Amino acid sequence: MRKVTTLGLLGTGVIGGGWAARALHFGVNVIAADVKPEMEAWIRGAVENAEPALARLTSAPLPPKGALSFTTDLKYMAERADFIQENVPEQLPLKQRVLAEVSRYAAADVVIASSTSGLTPTDLQRDMAGPERFLVAHPFNPVYLLPLVELVGGKKTESATLEAAAEFFTYIGMHPLNVRREVPGHLTDRLQEALWREILHLVNDGVATTGELDESIVYGPGLRWAAMGTNLIYHLAGGESGMRHMLAQFGPCLKWPWTRLEAPELTETLIDRMVEGTEAQAAGRSIRELERLRDDSLVAVQQVLRQTNMGAGATLRALEERLYKDAAAASTAMAGQPGKPLRLLETAVRPEWIDYNRHMTDFRYGQVFGDAMDALYRRVGVDESYRATGRMYYSVESHTRHVGEAKAGETIYVTMQLLAVEDKRLHVFHRLHRGSDDALIATSEQLHLHVDTVRGKASAVDPGVRAKLEAIRQDQLSLARPPESGRAIGQPRRAGATFQA
Ligand SMILES: NC(=O)c1ccc[n+]([C@@H]2O[C@H](COP(=O)([O-])OP(=O)(O)OC[C@H]3O[C@@H](n4cnc5c(N)ncnc54)[C@H](O)[C@@H]3O)[C@@H](O)[C@H]2O)c1
Repeated sequence: MRKVTTLGLLGTGVIGGGWAARALHFGVNVIAADVKPEMEAWIRGAVENAEPALARLTSAPLPPKGALSFTTDLKYMAERADFIQENVPEQLPLKQRVLAEVSRYAAADVVIASSTSGLTPTDLQRDMAGPERFLVAHPFNPVYLLPLVELVGGKKTESATLEAAAEFFTYIGMHPLNVRREVPGHLTDRLQEALWREILHLVNDGVATTGELDESIVYGPGLRWAAMGTNLIYHLAGGESGMRHMLAQFGPCLKWPWTRLEAPELTETLIDRMVEGTEAQAAGRSIRELERLRDDSLVAVQQVLRQTNMGAGATLRALEERLYKDAAAASTAMAGQPGKPLRLLETAVRPEWIDYNRHMTDFRYGQVFGDAMDALYRRVGVDESYRATGRMYYSVESHTRHVGEAKAGETIYVTMQLLAVEDKRLHVFHRLHRGSDDALIATSEQLHLHVDTVRGKASAVDPGVRAKLEAIRQDQLSLARPPESGRAIGQPRRAGATFQA
């Protein structure tokens, strides 16, 4: 299967828009195809709406954003995409028809996936050319923030297809869950539907309102589910003897049973109760407003779970680790040249880095210089395994000078001059340049201290790391010390000038 640099989308509604936002954010180009030309404006709006929350998900260095294009020509998309994700309405004959069509235009090594919520892959791949490269890849709304994607193969799907799809989805920050046997509704929607059916019954019987039923989840089980899920949580509910005791205690009541298997009739009364109930819960807030609240909460929850390395937080942590490694690998590929500062980081000014002056905002400089430093550390062997020994560098002083402006979309790069390498201290001078004309935008002089965190003291760096740093320093011996180094804040830029507040 080929490397995915362009994702083709077939159907650009709610789910297609979510796929586009996620893929673009992580540096994959998107060609979106829909029968309705008006969907172009819609998908561009959907990508823009997703951006504020997505931008806050991680501050790890991201590759430049992907490019979005739109077409009403399915063949145009299919001939150019490296991976195709179908998201047309949930109707079997329609999906079978478009999947068969797209499979005739796409090259044999292009994986084709369907976002179907419940149809089975064997049915969907029936009329396709090359059905072995087809699978179901079922995401969850909002696709750009929820990492889960259920992967299901049909009778004709090859295992290599599932592996290639898992690799691509992991690359764009997702958690692929392999569903081992195809069943209608896959796994998650079967669970969601069971809950949903019971909600409809309780509302229909006048037992509770939609708001009360949401409270019953939000204040209790919902909080637990994000970290552990029903089974592990019930294992804990059984005390020291876990699930066995839990089943002995509560198992018999499953026979009563509390819940019902068949949904109630969707009468006008029930529909009205559901609509009025949720409108009361929305309390005048628009769908867009509620989406923003949902998205902000989803970002915050994932960031907390990252600290405990649980569930979606573990996915985020693994993604960030990879992003830092990719940035460092790109930096290592930029070989040092004797007599020149070392190029450490190349990136682009992302739209969310801009402040009200339309230039890169202050704290993003700290982030970019920090990412450059991270790239230097990994290059000389101060990586996760080094940090796992309890040793690392702490920044103890820095001084940033702003001499130019960086605007959204501009490519930028950071070079580093090593001013001093000692056993415990590292003194560096970074320059941030604009990619298009090499103009200097900012400098940052920094002092870093090597620390043994177990002893809580400054300590000598590993000799192997020091040797690599020394080699860089040797390459740079002919470089003049930057005239700005050692500057104090407020010092006049030119000799003889005076500082005026
Ligand atoms: N909405 C959800 O929460 C959700 C979650 C997971 C999966 N899904 C699945 O994703 C799929 C899409 O759902 P959605 O909610 O985005 O639907 P939607 O109605 O918002 O979007 C469907 C899009 O497909 C386009 N379309 C229709 N026929 C087409 C054709 N022949 N060629 C190209 N485009 C065509 C429509 O113009 C529309 O823009 C469904 O299979 C659904 O089950 C939905």
